[in-house]
Amino acid sequence: AVQPRLFSRWTLRGVEFRNRVFLAPMCQYAARDGHPTDWHLVHYGARAAGGVGLVMLEATAVVPEGRISPADLGLWSDDHIPSLRRLTDFIRAQGAVAGIQLAHAGRKASCDVPANGEKPLPPERGGWPIFGASAVPFSSGHPTPRELDEAALADIVGNFARAAERALAAGFEVVEIHAAHGYLLHSFLSPLSNRRTDLYGGRFENRVRFPLEVVAAVRAAWPDHLPLFVRISATDWAEGGWDLDQSIRFADRLKDFGVDLVDASSGGLLPDAVPPAAPGYQVPFAQAIRARTGIATGAVGLITEPHQAEAVIASGSADAVLLGRELLRDPHWPLHAAAALGEDADWPTPYFRAR
Ligand code: FNR
Repeated sequence: AVQPRLFSRWTLRGVEFRNRVFLAPMCQYAARDGHPTDWHLVHYGARAAGGVGLVMLEATAVVPEGRISPADLGLWSDDHIPSLRRLTDFIRAQGAVAGIQLAHAGRKASCDVPANGEKPLPPERGGWPIFGASAVPFSSGHPTPRELDEAALADIVGNFARAAERALAAGFEVVEIHAAHGYLLHSFLSPLSNRRTDLYGGRFENRVRFPLEVVAAVRAAWPDHLPLFVRISATDWAEGGWDLDQSIRFADRLKDFGVDLVDASSGGLLPDAVPPAAPGYQVPFAQAIRARTGIATGAVGLITEPHQAEAVIASGSADAVLLGRELLRDPHWPLHAAAALGEDADWPTPYFRAR
C-alpha cells in the first residue's frame, strides 16, 4: 500500500477528500435563532477556498435548549435548511467537503458567549432550563441540570436523527456527533457526571447506552454512502473519570455501529481539570484508538506546523488532522503547507497571481 501523506486524497464511503487537512469544528457565536449569518458564509467559505479537505461546521444544536449560547447554529427546524444550503453550495464549489457537527450541550447549555464571559445566562437575560445525565452541575457557579427521564432521552435520539436528515437536505456530506467536551453525550459517558441508577448509568455498558442510541439513530437516518464521525474526549484528565481505556472500548463499539472516524479530543467535563497542552498532545489518543480498534481517527489539538501534520499522517497515528486556531490565524494554511511540503495545491483561480 502507498504510504498516506497529508496531501494525498482519501475516500471514506462515497466521499473523496482532496487532502487530510480538516477544519476543526469551532463555534462562531454569530448565529441568529440557529441560522447562519453572512459571517458564517465568509468564514467557512474562506477556509474552503484556503484548501482544506473538509470544512466541519461548528457545534449545531439539535434542539433549541441544546445550544451552548443563544448565538449557536441550529438544525431543529426545516427553516434552517436553506440558509445552510448556501454555505454547502459555496464550500463544495471550492473543492472542499462540507461537514456539520450535531450537538446537544446538556448541562453546559444556556451560557453567554465567550466574548461576554461565557457565564450561565439567568432567565431574565435569555437563559433557559438545562438538562443532563444527572442532577450534577458543571461547576459551583452553574445551575443544577434536571436529570433526563427515559421519554426525554428517546425524544433527543429522534432530534439527532431529524437533524441528520436536515443536514442531508442542506447538502452536507459528513455528519459528526459531538460526544466530547462535557456536553450531553459526554456527560453520560463519564462516571463523574453520570450518577444514574437506571439502564443508562453505572457500568460501562450502561454509560455508553444513550450515546450509542444516538449514533444508531443517526447512522440509520444518514445515507450509507456518507461518512459519520464521532468526536470524543479521550480522557477527562481526572481520577475516576472517563479515560483512554474506556475510549478504546467505546471506539470499538462505534466501529460496529457504522461510525467511520473517531475525532479524538479531550477534556471539557470539569472546569478545573487542566490538560497538559503542548504541541500534538492529543495525537497519542488518536494513535492508540486507531491501533487498538482499526477505526479511522482524526488528530486534533495544537497541530500548527506542516511537517508536524505530515508526520501525524505518515506515521499512521491518524487518518486526518483537524486544525482549529491555526486555521483562524491563516485561512490559507493548507496552501502554504502544501508549498512547504513540496506538494501541489491549486490556489483559487481568482488568486492566480498570488502563487
Ligand atoms: C472550539 N472547539 C470546538 N470543539 C468542538 O467539538 N465543537 C465546537 O463547536 C468547538 N468550538 C470551538 C470554538 C473555538 C473558538 C475554539 C478555539 C475551539 C475546539 C476545537 O475544535 C479544537 O478541538 C481545539 O481548538 C484544539 O485544536 P487547535 O485549536 O489547537 O488546533
